[in-house]
Amino acid sequence: MKRCRDIGVTSALVVAVMLIMAVELAAGQTLTPALITQERSVKDGVFTPDQAARGRERYEASCQRCHGIDLAGGAGRSLTGAVFLRDWTGLTLDSLFERMQSMPPGGSESLAADAYVDIITYVLERNGFPAGGDELSTRFLNAVRVEGEEGPDVVPNFALVRVVGCLAGSAADGWRLADASAEVRTTDPEPSAGDELRAVQAIPLGEGAFRLMYVFPSPEAYVGHMVETKGLLIRGASDSAGDSLNVTSVQSLAPRCGRP
Ligand code: HEC
Repeated sequence: MKRCRDIGVTSALVVAVMLIMAVELAAGQTLTPALITQERSVKDGVFTPDQAARGRERYEASCQRCHGIDLAGGAGRSLTGAVFLRDWTGLTLDSLFERMQSMPPGGSESLAADAYVDIITYVLERNGFPAGGDELSTRFLNAVRVEGEEGPDVVPNFALVRVVGCLAGSAADGWRLADASAEVRTTDPEPSAGDELRAVQAIPLGEGAFRLMYVFPSPEAYVGHMVETKGLLIRGASDSAGDSLNVTSVQSLAPRCGRP
């Protein structure tokens, strides 16, 4: 008997949870991040062919005159091929969405959010990414990452990145980052704050090393600290030459540094 009651309680709970979810959806709220379980990539079929067809119409009406009939660019930048991948690999689609919202330049004819999402799907289609069964919506933009042949972790040269590591070196010999985490793309050159900062503080140190170039003001006070550094990634000419960062910001995360 007791068993049956337990099951009853469990299913009542399930129903309650489903009701809460239904109410949230009805109210037009976004799903909590916990429910958008997995991060996906643009290779996973994140839009439908119909949506890309709508995007094409929007593109032709508002964007084509500058970005070209084949998206290869003109007055505007190319939105296909190597240029597209270099500009966006490693970033999630919300960055592309944000960038598009300032388009066309001048702001005189900006489009509805849905229209930009449709255009994104057309751009993805033209870049050879597969369609799938569900439409892309604004809710999922930050869960879909752009990646090329080599995967999402290959950060292109000259991309703005964020690295966590131990600050070393001197003004005379140059500043360095030791025990550094792998570089991750970012869109903001300023020190992280708020939720982003909390996420950065949880990044473990790694085995990377970077030379830091053009660091102003002098980071002297942070030598030996665990720091977050952002900057443009300059890959070394060879593996032994090592990578550098053309630094945009350095902030101290902790007064000590070292792997456990
Ligand atoms: C009047 C010309 C013009 C029109 C129309 C226009 N763009 Fe642009 N777009 C530009 C220029 C110029 C740039 C490059 C600006 C820069 O790099 O700062 C650009 C850059 C972009 C970028 C950034 C590319 C990158 O990789 O950095 C995106 C994305 C973009 N446009 C999308 C669109 C979309 C979508 C539309 C239509 C809704 C559109 N543009 C309409 C001129 C235009």
